[in-house]
Amino acid sequence: MAFRRKKISVVGAGQVGATCALMLASRGVGDVVLLDINQGAAKGKALDILQTAAVQLFDSQVRGTADWADTADSDVVVLTAGSPRRPGLSRDDLLSINARVVASCCREIARRSPGAVVIVVTNPLDAMCFVAKRELGFPRERVLGMAGVLDSARFRTFVALELSVSVRDVQALVMGGHGDSMVPMPRHCFVGGVPLPELLAPERIAALVERARRGGDEIVKLLETGSAFYAPAASVVQMAEAVLLDQRRVLPCAALLEGEFGISGLFLGVPCVLGGRGLEQVCDIALDEAERAAFEHSASRVRALVDDLARLGL
Ligand code: APR
Repeated sequence: MAFRRKKISVVGAGQVGATCALMLASRGVGDVVLLDINQGAAKGKALDILQTAAVQLFDSQVRGTADWADTADSDVVVLTAGSPRRPGLSRDDLLSINARVVASCCREIARRSPGAVVIVVTNPLDAMCFVAKRELGFPRERVLGMAGVLDSARFRTFVALELSVSVRDVQALVMGGHGDSMVPMPRHCFVGGVPLPELLAPERIAALVERARRGGDEIVKLLETGSAFYAPAASVVQMAEAVLLDQRRVLPCAALLEGEFGISGLFLGVPCVLGGRGLEQVCDIALDEAERAAFEHSASRVRALVDDLARLGL
């Protein structure tokens, strides 16, 4: 019987990409190809990761490359290539640099792995998903952005720290755009089954929401060079596993809305069922008035970014 192992290509062997490759390989979900324009970085990091197998005992193959041919027929492609935020780089500069990188990578992905599920990580996330979808020409089921898992992981961490309980027992839903305009939903946050508003005063919840919203900035300030990568990589791995193992997990992801929540043509963070086909379903849950207003505000911020792409000819 022919048996084919799952194949995951991680594009961009920087902080997020290499950490993703390490986590994916060590969890043994499939073989990993790590691609970067910097061939030495891709090959060096892949070899280093492969050598952890002897100690950590996994069977995944890990290969570094600068050649897109090596990514052929991937089941999942994780796109982290691009430039991270750094001081002195304007919003428009970052948008143009990363839109061009994402577009060129997606043309290769479409050619080499036409059946893949693509998980976009490059920021500004919701706009990069839009570029990726356009260049890939894939159905929306196979183009997803990683944002909500990370934003909700940050919120859950702060709730667990505040209440001094295990983060395993904290569930949260975060919707909308990534970062500043994210929309946390305290009404849908539970600690051991108990709704969060029964455990914490509204002003404490608001403070934790604000910290989660600025979660990326807090880390950028501390690191001084570069941005967060461990939690972003772990969040990608959770999404990739849901697809590769057809888990039908319910996770907040950036998905192209086609009328859900009254919005069409934009990628926004919404609760999704992720399985073998990628996006199996968008959970079109009812929002109350305040949630709807916050979600629509977030959508307007994402729409402005997409308009900027057009203004910059991208
Ligand atoms: N093709 C392949 N790789 C590329 C390309 C390209 N066209 N352009 C850039 N890269 C590679 C760089 O060589 C670098 O190794 O992408 C990698 C990016 O890595 P880092 O600079 O370390 O950035 P990282 O912290 O990993 O963040 C990557 O994820 O979370 C987001 O905001 C973050 O957009 C950023 C992305």
